[in-house]
Formats: sequence, C-alpha cells, structure tokens
Amino acid sequence: MTAPGPTTLPTVQFRTGDGTIDLGWGHPHPASLPVDAWGEATGAALRRYGASALTYGHPTGPGPLIEWLCGRLGEVDTAAPDPTQTFVTAGASHALDLIASILCRPGDVVLVDSPTYHLALRVIADHRVDIVPAPVDSDGIDPAATAELVRAIGRQGRRVPMLYLVPTFNNPTGRSLPAERRSALVTAAQRTGMTLVEDDTYRELAYPAPAPASLFGSAEIGSVVRIGSFAKSVAPGLRLGWLNAAAPVVDALAARGYVHSGGGVNHANALTLAEFAAAGSYRRHVEAIRSRYRRQRDELVTAVRRDLPQAEFTVPGGGWFLWLRLPAPRGGTELLPYAAAAGVSYLPGRQFFVAETGHQHLRLSFSLFDPETLAAGVRRLGEAYQAAGLRSGSGTPPD
Ligand SMILES: Cc1ncc(COP(=O)(O)O)c(C=O)c1O
Repeated sequence: MTAPGPTTLPTVQFRTGDGTIDLGWGHPHPASLPVDAWGEATGAALRRYGASALTYGHPTGPGPLIEWLCGRLGEVDTAAPDPTQTFVTAGASHALDLIASILCRPGDVVLVDSPTYHLALRVIADHRVDIVPAPVDSDGIDPAATAELVRAIGRQGRRVPMLYLVPTFNNPTGRSLPAERRSALVTAAQRTGMTLVEDDTYRELAYPAPAPASLFGSAEIGSVVRIGSFAKSVAPGLRLGWLNAAAPVVDALAARGYVHSGGGVNHANALTLAEFAAAGSYRRHVEAIRSRYRRQRDELVTAVRRDLPQAEFTVPGGGWFLWLRLPAPRGGTELLPYAAAAGVSYLPGRQFFVAETGHQHLRLSFSLFDPETLAAGVRRLGEAYQAAGLRSGSGTPPD
C-alpha cells in the first residue's frame, strides 16, 4: 500500500482563483471549521462505539445523535421534536430531495417562496413538477392569497403537494417571516392539505439568538416537514442533516430500498457528531461562529453603507447574506460585468426567483471572508458601481 500522493483530480467544490473577491459563495470561513475538535470527536466516537461506529447504521439515524438533536432543537426552538419524527440525512439538500420524492408526482405543482434558495429550485425541479411562486408582499408569503392559489390550481385538476420556504433567516434575504404570517400560513396549509417544507438551515446562526419559533413546532403534526443541516452550524463536508416529519413519513423514508440496503445515512459521521456534542464542542463551536459571523455581517453592513450607499437593504438578524436593492431596475444584473472587471463578484438577484424578475437585487455573502477582505470587496463593488453609471439605468456592460 502506498500513501495517497499529490493528485491533479479535484478535491473540493469551491476553488479560489484569480484574485477576485467572490461574495457569491455561501460557504463557511475556513478558519471556522472545527478541524481539531472534529478530529478529537472522531477518536472519541471510535473509542466509545468501537465496531458499532463502522458498521451499517440504524435506518433513521443513530440513537445518540437523534436524542441529542431533539434536545438541542428544544433549546433553540419552542418545542423539541419527538425522536420518532426525526430522520438523519446527508444534509438539507438531501432532505429536500427525499421529502419531494415522498410527496410529489411528476406533473404536480410545487409552490415556492420568492425570492428563495436558488439551488433548492434545482432539487425540486428534479422531481419533474411545475414550480410556481407563491404570492408574496413586502412581509413575505401572503397566506390567504396562497390558499386561494392552491384551490384555483386544484380546480384545474392538479395537485399542490408542497410549498418550500426558508422562513428563518431566508437565503437570500436574511429576513424571517413575521409571527402572524407563520401561524396564518400553517392554518392555510392545514386547510388546503398542502405540506409546508420548512428549510430551517440557518436556525443556529442567529445574531443574537434566539431565532423565531419554527413552523414545525407550532403546527399540527403532518402539515409541516422541517429540514435541517449541520452544514452551516458545523461543516458542510460532513454531509449531515435531518428531517422532522410525522412518524409515518419517517417510517416511509426508513422503509425505502436504499436504507434497507445501506442502513442509516452517513452513520459514522452521525455518531461522531453525537460525540462532538457530548464533549460540549457543538455548543462552544456554535457560540464561536455566532460571534464570528456577527462580526463579518457588521463589517459588510458598514462597508456597503460607506462604499455603496445607493443600495437599500435590511440588516439580517441571522444567516449569511445581505440582500441589496439598487436604484436602477436592472441594477443587480447589469452591475455584474463591471464587478468582474473590478475584481469582485456576487450572485445576481434574478437567480433566486422562478419568474423573470429580481434584476434590481444582488446577494452578498459575508460567510467566507475576513472583515478586511469583505471591506476590500465592497470597495471594488463601489468602484464598479461608479464605472457602470447605473444611477440612470443606462450602463452598458464592459467587454
Ligand atoms: C437555505 C439552504 N438550504 C440548504 C442548503 C444546503 O444545505 P446542505 O449543505 O445541508 O445540503 C443551503 C446552503 O447554502 C441553504 O442556504
């Protein structure tokens, strides 16, 4: 056996390249990843569980992780889910894919919030459904108009099995759905028979904590499925998350062929996370990243106010993103080539909508870079804005 040597094959999804400060990536700051504590937890899990850590896992996920996770969710939300309502997944994307495969049939209509997490649209589209934006106003999803839309689609003989949303520290807006909207939306879902798929990925990243109460914790069992992830609270490379749903849905997932064949998802990492939590590392880590990302958010906010004062935004109470609105109707789209020329990048707002809209907006992420780099990126963005002459909406992208 030879030790692994250098390879030209890729190792990671994200690579930095040409000196561009890319504020488009919603990835963690490398220094925030708990390399040492994870190493210790890995050794501790192997010592504690021995061969059980390396065999096939329990279908819904290992007991130690599920027990701790339910308790933790009880601390950071209004209610703790029951272990029978919990299924461990390979992240939130996997959880969304799984629940869509249980709820949706090709040709169904799936409603989504607008704007919403752009890559969730890809996951949902894999299920050969039609994706339709739910009605929104300046406070977010409009529950009464959404219920009316579900009924109208039903009258056309089509099913609306689910509505996907990120009600807490939304990606891309960083905003949370107000409490009265939450309860009205849950009522609308219960009345129409549509399942709310609540993506709760950013719950732990609240500045300051606590995050608003989840839809899952306040709804009748069966009307909300919550998907969660350790990608933001610990590390995305773990590919570890979960889903909270009515026990029969969890049973249906556990009965799927791939679980029967391969056991619980990502078993060894799931047990290591249980150990990471038992050692107190999870709690310490979340406290540390909360203050890190709060600092990074504050720096980005200060930099945008200083160097791009034309942008309007709401300071997010959590998550990783700042959602800017420029005065020009297509500002977010038209600024991009000028930004590239100035050595900075971002995600244009259009990507977060199903409909042909959102061109006025752009999303900046404050997760990946130190405060100094964030400030330098926004300085470049301010220069790009001046070069683009977008105030009048008449900018012509550079070659
Ligand atoms: C709202 C939302 N859901 C899910 C994900 C992906 O989560 P995971 O890495 O656990 O699949 C992200 C990552 O950016 C996200 O912003």
